[in-house]
Amino acid sequence: MSNHSINLIYLLSATLFMLGIKYLSSPNTAKRGNLLSMIGMAAAIGITLTTPGLHGFTLIIIGIIIGTVIGGYAALKVKMTSMPEMVALFNGCGGAASALVAMAEFRGPNTEFDSFTLITLLLSMIIGGLTFTGSLMAYAKLQDLISTRPITYPGQQFINGAIVLVTLVLASLLFQDPSNTLVFFGILALSLSLGVLAVIPIGGADMPVIICLLNSYSGLAVSMTGFALNNNALIITGSLVGASGIILTKIMCDAMNRSLANVLFSAFGKIIESADDTGEGPTGTIKGYEVEDVATILANAGSLIIVPGYGMAAAQAQHATRELGDYLGEQGVNVRYAIHPVAGRMPGHMNVLLAEADVPYEQLFALEDINDDFAGTDVVLVIGANDVVNPAAKTNPSSPIYGMPVLDVEKATTVIVLKRSMSVGFAGIENELFFMDNTMMLFGDARSSLQKLVATLKQ
Ligand code: TAP
Repeated sequence: MSNHSINLIYLLSATLFMLGIKYLSSPNTAKRGNLLSMIGMAAAIGITLTTPGLHGFTLIIIGIIIGTVIGGYAALKVKMTSMPEMVALFNGCGGAASALVAMAEFRGPNTEFDSFTLITLLLSMIIGGLTFTGSLMAYAKLQDLISTRPITYPGQQFINGAIVLVTLVLASLLFQDPSNTLVFFGILALSLSLGVLAVIPIGGADMPVIICLLNSYSGLAVSMTGFALNNNALIITGSLVGASGIILTKIMCDAMNRSLANVLFSAFGKIIESADDTGEGPTGTIKGYEVEDVATILANAGSLIIVPGYGMAAAQAQHATRELGDYLGEQGVNVRYAIHPVAGRMPGHMNVLLAEADVPYEQLFALEDINDDFAGTDVVLVIGANDVVNPAAKTNPSSPIYGMPVLDVEKATTVIVLKRSMSVGFAGIENELFFMDNTMMLFGDARSSLQKLVATLKQ
């Protein structure tokens, strides 16, 4: 195949990737988006194999088979709640692949590079290396293999800054003499350690944001590799991943009303720990109710808004939630679901779980589309949500979540909260909602409580 034809197919693949991303933005079209992207990727890989002068064909095919088996197995086996971990591992593989290509170029027989190629190879190796170890750390935190608490020590940011500086100095030395083995391995070691050191001060629950950021880095590393190898498919794909990763990172930070710098450098979990110790917090009476009381209130409601949160995911209560919603809907209750953008622990967490349970898309409403409706609603059922319904975000300027947009559930006539105890949520703070006059607590695992509610209602 001529270079011209190869580039034409690359252009087609890039168009399919962009269409794929566009379709992925809605649950209705997400499957089509995935399919288009898969076709684009298959076309890009297939046409690359026809590149004139390609060596090691057998090794490439073996690599593709191994990758396909591992990727396919992981995608089939992964639980929806473990998706961030899998994405972290795959990001890490992307970073490692870019770094390995750059390393192979550096250590290959030809070390005569023009300046531009040298810079892109260096960036590919450094960004790819830190993405690899950073992603492994994010995976380890999410899997509880290491402490999910921020690990901090005096002078941490200064030390990280110094490592970046030394890496850049070594990179300029390798730029002058690409065959210098000592400097080469020095850069490799520093970029690998940078990934570890940059991620350990970040709390486990902030990992989804970090994974998006590392995803963006892996895209950047891939596009640098593309420039170095003069491969348009890698340049375009890497840029798409880089840009969409950083946009998603920004969306998540905005939804939490935090800056990226705050996520990266504030050791969030640690600060909240000390805020908890002040002893200040909401006062009032907690009203724990029985399943039968809650069932009576639900049976008499005309309108219901269900607010799912992380606890619904943890309890795997999405099917029981739909069952309750369906039953009440059949009884004439106007049932809707309010989805907060950062409810749960990953972007679209609630949408994915509710889609898995076949909750109709038209019953799902985003925060901005439903927030004004709480005031006229009879009952709000909060299922394992805490921070995203905490009024302190609106009323308490000293609260760490102050300014984060939250669902105005307290404006409904009655609020029923399903959770196991008075434990705090991700942000580690008390929630005055639970103490309000119109709030009723139903303590217990969300799935079990919902199953009991459905059984009682059906009696
Ligand atoms: P959280 O504030 O984390 O609260 C979850 C609540 O679920 C807890 O208070 C817990 O109380 C309850 N729970 C846990 N297991 C349960 C079970 N089996 N049955 C019933 N309840 C259970 O959740 P949220 O309101 O969804 O807020 C999400 C938080 O995560 C926000 O602060 C957000 O900023 C942060 N965050 C989100 C993302 C994304 S992209 N979604 C990324 C990073 C951080 P009990 O232990 O008492 O049951």
